[in-house]
Amino acid sequence: MTRIRVRASRSYDVTIAPGLLDRAGELLRPLTKASSAALICGDLVHPLYAERAVRALEGAGFRVFVKTIPHGEAHKTLETCAGILSFLFENGFGREDLIVSLGGGVTGDLAGFAAASYQRGCDLAQIPTTLLAAADASVGGKNALDLPGGKNQVGFIYQPIAVLCDPELFETLPAREMRCGLAELVKMGVLFDRGLFDSLRGGFDPARGGELVARCVELKRRVVERDEFDRGERRLLNLGHSFGHAIERASAYRLSHGEAVAIGMAMIARAAAERGLCSGETAEQLLSLLRTLGLPTDCPYPADKLLEAVLHDKKRWKPGCGTEARHDGLSPRRGTARRGARSRLQIRGAAPVLLRRPRRGALRDSLRSSFGGSRGHARVSCRARRVGRRFRRARTHRADPRRPRP
Ligand SMILES: NC(=O)c1ccc[n+]([C@@H]2O[C@H](COP(=O)([O-])OP(=O)(O)OC[C@H]3O[C@@H](n4cnc5c(N)ncnc54)[C@H](O)[C@@H]3O)[C@@H](O)[C@H]2O)c1
Repeated sequence: MTRIRVRASRSYDVTIAPGLLDRAGELLRPLTKASSAALICGDLVHPLYAERAVRALEGAGFRVFVKTIPHGEAHKTLETCAGILSFLFENGFGREDLIVSLGGGVTGDLAGFAAASYQRGCDLAQIPTTLLAAADASVGGKNALDLPGGKNQVGFIYQPIAVLCDPELFETLPAREMRCGLAELVKMGVLFDRGLFDSLRGGFDPARGGELVARCVELKRRVVERDEFDRGERRLLNLGHSFGHAIERASAYRLSHGEAVAIGMAMIARAAAERGLCSGETAEQLLSLLRTLGLPTDCPYPADKLLEAVLHDKKRWKPGCGTEARHDGLSPRRGTARRGARSRLQIRGAAPVLLRRPRRGALRDSLRSSFGGSRGHARVSCRARRVGRRFRRARTHRADPRRPRP
């Protein structure tokens, strides 16, 4: 069993071990005063795992109420969440009670949003059932819902009391969903861990699922602890996400989050290579790994279709603050990077990590540290520490305005 302690505004353990689903009640009981637990799960996950989860929770003395929600990104909405909140109210839930998410990132975001908002916050536990949710979405406390105009536009940063990850649950994942999880693993490899990146080159070995999840959780923990509220370093985790979110929306969510992020990373890598921010070889290594894992790398949509969505993405850097990003060579016709394109499309803040001027060095270094030298990573960390120090000073001043501003 692997336990990773995340020290955030609320600290908690991420526990990773096969067979954990059947021990959910026993592990959660000491962490909460809840008498009732609402098990939120998607309609596809329900027939697979809900019964075991209910048995485990009831065995530890919880009164369990199951709320099944429709699967898919199209249902990650305020309407679905309103259904969960009404369900909690109708079943007499109080703020001391517990919400348990059993599912992928969509269920986790919905359950997290409901937990953060119901009676101004009740306990939340995450039991991720997809690779993507286990390696990324269930950790760090972000919970967001989509609005008709944009993805993840409303949400909270609200930490769970525990994350229980049982890699055996991935056995029923369709191959496509498994691949989507791999996109987030690749992202973590590119950003922070050359070893992780290389280990994926030979393809994904399901027997190593737990180990890879643990590695990603550990990497994410470090970032979340330094920047829980997403004001600096945590934004590195958005690599490929501005285009990714735009692509998801443009496809009316037919492309999944993981697939869209893979395309987003490929677009950014090509653009970075064209701008000299990373070598062509670096970009090619990323593209080739994505292809090896069966992930898409070409954007099927023209730039104008993406432009509006990108401009509404909250993960972009704020426009107008002198950090305009130019995604040169994004062809309006084909939507893919094109060397020396005449019609240079300018997208403000479109490529948050790679192309925003003040962070350009940071990402180049980060890419370098993953693909070449080691010097880069140290520099990224230094910068992150500086940002963190500045943020902590500002926070201290806000908390006690009488203290002189440092
Ligand atoms: N909160 C965060 O920090 C964060 C981070 C990354 C992604 N996300 C969000 O996560 C979502 C994507 O998550 P996802 O990829 O897990 O998608 P998902 O939750 O839609 O799950 C994918 C599909 O797999 C099915 N499924 C889930 N577990 C299964 C299992 N064990 N066996 C068989 N089928 C199973 C689901 O019913 C669904 O149809 C996006 O909405 C994204 O925005 C959130």
